[in-house]
Amino acid sequence: MIDPWGSGEIKDYEKIMKEFGIKPFKPLLKNIPDPHLLMRRGIIFGHRGFEKILECIKTKKEFCMMTGLMPSGDFHLGHALLVQQIIYYQGLGARIFLCVADIEAYNMRRIGLEKLRETAIEEYLVNYIALGLKPKNCDFYFQSQRSKDFKKSNSYYRLIGMSSRRVTFNELSAIYGELTPGKIMSALAQVSDILHPQLKEFGGLKNVLVPVGIDQDPHIRLTRDIAGRFNRANEIKFSMPSTTFHRFMPGLKGGKMSSSDPNSYISMNDSPETIREKIMKHAFSGGRGSVKEHREKGGIPEIDVSYNLLYMMFEPDDKKIQKIYDDYKSGKMLTGELKEITIEKITKFLEKHRERREKAKDKIEMFLNQ
Ligand code: TRP
Repeated sequence: MIDPWGSGEIKDYEKIMKEFGIKPFKPLLKNIPDPHLLMRRGIIFGHRGFEKILECIKTKKEFCMMTGLMPSGDFHLGHALLVQQIIYYQGLGARIFLCVADIEAYNMRRIGLEKLRETAIEEYLVNYIALGLKPKNCDFYFQSQRSKDFKKSNSYYRLIGMSSRRVTFNELSAIYGELTPGKIMSALAQVSDILHPQLKEFGGLKNVLVPVGIDQDPHIRLTRDIAGRFNRANEIKFSMPSTTFHRFMPGLKGGKMSSSDPNSYISMNDSPETIREKIMKHAFSGGRGSVKEHREKGGIPEIDVSYNLLYMMFEPDDKKIQKIYDDYKSGKMLTGELKEITIEKITKFLEKHRERREKAKDKIEMFLNQ
C-alpha cells in the first residue's frame, strides 16, 4: 500500500509498477519529439495512458496538464522537479491547471489557511514564475477558492460532492488503509482537481495529463475509477486522465527530500554557506572509507546523493555526466571533488534563480484573481 501522506520511501519501483499496472515510460521515448531531461534520464519512469497525450503533441492537438502541490514549508529542489515538467508542457502549448492544495494541507498538515495562502504565493508561486511559468493559459487556483466566476467555482465543488456517490467506504479503505475524514475529504478534492477541467464550465471533454510523484498513485487510481463510473452512469463524460510518474529527488541523507526535515533538502532560499554545509555534512556519499580504498575499488555513483543531484537536475550535458559517472566509479574522482562540483552547480543555479525571483514578484498578480 502507498500512503500519499506518509513519509515512506519507495524502494521497489518495479514491484509497484507491476502491482498497480503502471507502464514503463522508456518505450515511448523514441516517439517523443523533444523529450525533457527527466524523461531521457528515466526519472519520469512510468505512465498510464501517455500514448493519448503523445498523439496530441505529435499532431498538435489540444491537451491540458493538471497537477498540484501542498504549500507546506519551504519550496525545495524536489518541488522544482515537478515544476520543470509543468513548464515543459506549457511550452508545448498545453493549458495548465495548477492547484494549491491548501484544504489538503489544512487537514493533513494542520496548518492555518492564511499561512498556507501566504506560503503558496510568496514561496511557491514566486518560485514557479522564476522557474519559467507563464500566466498565459494558466489556471492557478486554491482548493479553498476555485474561481471568482461562481459558475466555474460551483461546478468544481459540486463535483467533489458528487464524487462521493461513485466510491464505497470499503474501496477507500482498500486504497488508503486507515481513514480519517480529512483523508476522505482530501482524496475527493483531488478527484475533482483532476477531473474538473473537463466539466462544461471549463470547456468540456478533453485530454488531461497529470504528472505526479509516485506517492500520488492512490489518488490517480481512485480518480480513474470514479471517472469510469460517471461515464458508465451516463452522467458526466470524462476522457480518462493520463498520468506520468516521477521518482523522488533523494533526500540528502537518503530517503526522500521532504519539507518536514530541513537537513533532507536544499531550499531555494539556502545561502551559499548553507548549501556548502548541507552537501559537505549531510549529503550521503557513495565513496569509500579511505582515499586508498576509494582509488582501489572506486565509488558508487548510484547511491551518491551529490551524483544524483547532478544527474537529475544540475548537469544536463549527457557527455559530462557520463564522465563524472565513469571517473567516480573508477576511483579517479574522490567524494570531495564530486561534492565541490555539485556545490558549485547548485550555488550558481540558485544565485541566478534568486535574481529571477526578484523579477517574478511583479508578475504574481497576473496569476491571482482568476
Ligand atoms: N496531493 C498532492 C500533494 O500531496 C497535491 C494535489 C492536490 C494534487 N490536487 C492535486 C496533485 C491534483 C496532482 C493533481 O502534493
